[in-house]
Amino acid sequence: MAMAPSRVISLLCLLVTLLISHTTAQPSFLYHFCMNDKGNYTENSSYQTNLNTLLSTLSTNTQIDFGFYNFSEGQNSDKVNAIGMCRGDIKPDACRSCLNDSRLLLTQRCPNQKEAIGWYDNCMLRYSNRSIFNTMEPDPTYFLWDQNNATDVDQFNDALRGLVDSLRSKAASGDSLKKYAAGSASGPSFQTIFALLQCTPDLSEQQCNDCLVRAISDISSCCSGKTSGRIGKPSCNLRFDTSPFYDSSADASPSSPPQVPPPPDTSTKGNSNTTRIVIAVVVPIVGIAVLVISACIFLRARKQRKNVDTEGVGEVEDEIEPTETLQFNFDTIRMATNNFSETNTLGRGGFGPVYKGKLSNGQEVAVKRLSMNSGQGDVEFKNEVQLVAKLQHRNLVRLLGFSLERKERLLVYEFVPNKSLDYFIFDPIKRAHLNWETRYKIIGGIARGLVYLHEDSRLRIIHRDLKASNILLDKEMNPKISDFGMARLFVMDQTQANTSRIVGTYGYMAPEYVMQGQFSVKSDVFSFGVLVLEIVSGQKNSGFRNGDRIEDLIGYAWKSWREGTASNLIDPTLNAGSRNEIMRCIHIGLLCVQDHLADRPTMASVVLMLNSYSHTLPVPTEPAFFMNNRGLSDIQSWEYNSGTTEPSKLKSKSVKSHSSEVSTDEPYPR
Ligand SMILES: *[C@@H]1O[C@H](CO)[C@@H](O)[C@H](O)[C@H]1NC(C)=O
Ligand SMILES: *[C@@H]1O[C@H](CO)[C@@H](O)[C@H](O)[C@H]1NC(C)=O
Ligand SMILES: *[C@@H]1O[C@H](CO)[C@@H](O)[C@H](O)[C@H]1NC(C)=O
Ligand SMILES: *[C@@H]1O[C@H](CO)[C@@H](O)[C@H](O)[C@H]1NC(C)=O
Ligand SMILES: *[C@@H]1O[C@H](CO)[C@@H](O)[C@H](O)[C@H]1NC(C)=O
Ligand SMILES: *[C@@H]1O[C@H](CO)[C@@H](O)[C@H](O)[C@H]1NC(C)=O
Repeated sequence: MAMAPSRVISLLCLLVTLLISHTTAQPSFLYHFCMNDKGNYTENSSYQTNLNTLLSTLSTNTQIDFGFYNFSEGQNSDKVNAIGMCRGDIKPDACRSCLNDSRLLLTQRCPNQKEAIGWYDNCMLRYSNRSIFNTMEPDPTYFLWDQNNATDVDQFNDALRGLVDSLRSKAASGDSLKKYAAGSASGPSFQTIFALLQCTPDLSEQQCNDCLVRAISDISSCCSGKTSGRIGKPSCNLRFDTSPFYDSSADASPSSPPQVPPPPDTSTKGNSNTTRIVIAVVVPIVGIAVLVISACIFLRARKQRKNVDTEGVGEVEDEIEPTETLQFNFDTIRMATNNFSETNTLGRGGFGPVYKGKLSNGQEVAVKRLSMNSGQGDVEFKNEVQLVAKLQHRNLVRLLGFSLERKERLLVYEFVPNKSLDYFIFDPIKRAHLNWETRYKIIGGIARGLVYLHEDSRLRIIHRDLKASNILLDKEMNPKISDFGMARLFVMDQTQANTSRIVGTYGYMAPEYVMQGQFSVKSDVFSFGVLVLEIVSGQKNSGFRNGDRIEDLIGYAWKSWREGTASNLIDPTLNAGSRNEIMRCIHIGLLCVQDHLADRPTMASVVLMLNSYSHTLPVPTEPAFFMNNRGLSDIQSWEYNSGTTEPSKLKSKSVKSHSSEVSTDEPYPR
């Protein structure tokens, strides 16, 4: 395939940049921002003099050996403040030389700008006429990532998440000289994930923590599923990669004499192999480069804008309407819900009571009054609400906004008139009104809603607490999933670093989640499978009755399936309806509750299976199930500390698998 002209020009640009940087010894920044809106200084003004003095004292200071400089110069309106910070593992010499490069390049890139910030691999430099010390500034942010995808995105993300969370508290608890942590964890496919987190040490522990929490949550919008990524903010930064990039001896022996050369940077925009090849080919025609320079400057500027602005912060900021549009006045909501009166109560979920309300324009809403401390600052909370409010799908309950006043946090949702699925499906009388056609429509709708959450939305949401009472039904009995995104609105497992906290509902939780606290899209698939079996049978998974024996619905379904009597599972009130469709749903349900997550289908393939009868389904393997845990069967939402013994109570009992005995000639034997 022929290279597009713009590709050729960008390759040439790479060369030109390289040549320029080789001759001037100032590699370009990873990224920089000139703050156009923060004011300009005039040529030869005292601001400029102060700035130059300040930056040269900063980069020539030999007293400081911990890599952080917060200096200022001048008085009143001509006062300049600057912060320079080197990566925690960088030696003082390398640090000074990086800051020296930054000072020259930044003033060159942002001529006459009072405020600017630039990042290299090894250091960050920023200056401003504002006071920038001891304050947490999470914006502007740059994102960088490489194109390589992780082999197993869920496992990778889980491992990464665990790693950065532990490094976060380590970095935040650093002293006033250094707030830095680097470490590694093993990821899927025998890969090791390396990560580094750092704050400017003038921040308090809390400020540093807040900044890193934001950086961590940005991973999902910039580099989820990528094998390397970086997020840089004025007050903190985060980087991860599957190859080592930091000097791990730095922490242990700060004054070790041998100079460890900075590890080669493999994960920036340009791939070093490509650049080397390009040099070999193009160096003889350097003359052309001169012609190309001007085009390059133009294109690079455009490209950076594309890479970083449109796919990164820029987009988030552009898309998000001003908070005010989603923010409701507390008094408006109080009036709409009759002062949160008992008669307006719709229910009580794990996160607090839910009230019905009617706004002054007549619109009906459901208001969730959060009772738990979400562990999140106001700003984060608002940001998350904005993101979750963007998830719009006909099978999701729409989040309309929030209210944040007087320590009260309210979430305002669209009102869905027909109560939740559990109200119908587990009631011996009402159940009879749900014919098969309706139940099938509900199953399909939930599946499509989940595909949207898992794959089609930008955020990749794992519900974590899917159950019949979280499925609301509208006038036409279309299902709408509620309570999604709560994991984003509540910072799970943030208050205590060593507490892994599981929030879910017994009977719906996948075994790997219960036992190891691991969750993934496949744990939602498990919960979906339980729901399907409940919808078909009209019985609860926990507290399922078979004659006078209480057992587990999944266990019963599996045994019946193996014995060829799965039709016993079908709700006796379902006397009409396609038997083949019903059996197919039981089959899909069993595929979803399989013990091994790799065996469970994705929600997208579930939708395919539901839609196409010609699609042959695999034979399910043994599910995970917990039999007759009477003591636990009516616990609704629960948590545990990883140190306690509770999970062991939930050991699954197994039934020997004889899946090969299942007759495949006749798909659904009686
Ligand atoms: C910084 O400069 C801008 C633009 O000149 C000015 O509006 C602002 O008041 C200055 N800030 C401080 C703290 O002097
Ligand atoms: C400062 O100068 C830059 C270009 O050098 C310009 O884009 C920006 O609008 C100016 N800012 C102000 C506040 O005048
Ligand atoms: C700034 O000072 C330099 C050297 O003193 C001089 O060459 C230049 O013309 C001055 N620029 C302006 C805009 O006054
Ligand atoms: C700073 O960089 C300039 C230009 O690259 C160089 O001449 C100077 O020696 C450097 N200073 C220090 C202290 O490294
Ligand atoms: C990574 O995945 C995206 C889509 O998910 C794809 O466009 C891209 O080409 C993949 N990158 C590599 C290196 O395979
Ligand atoms: C510079 O940072 C240190 C912490 O590293 C802090 O103690 C000091 O107050 C800061 N200086 C200024 C001027 O804010």
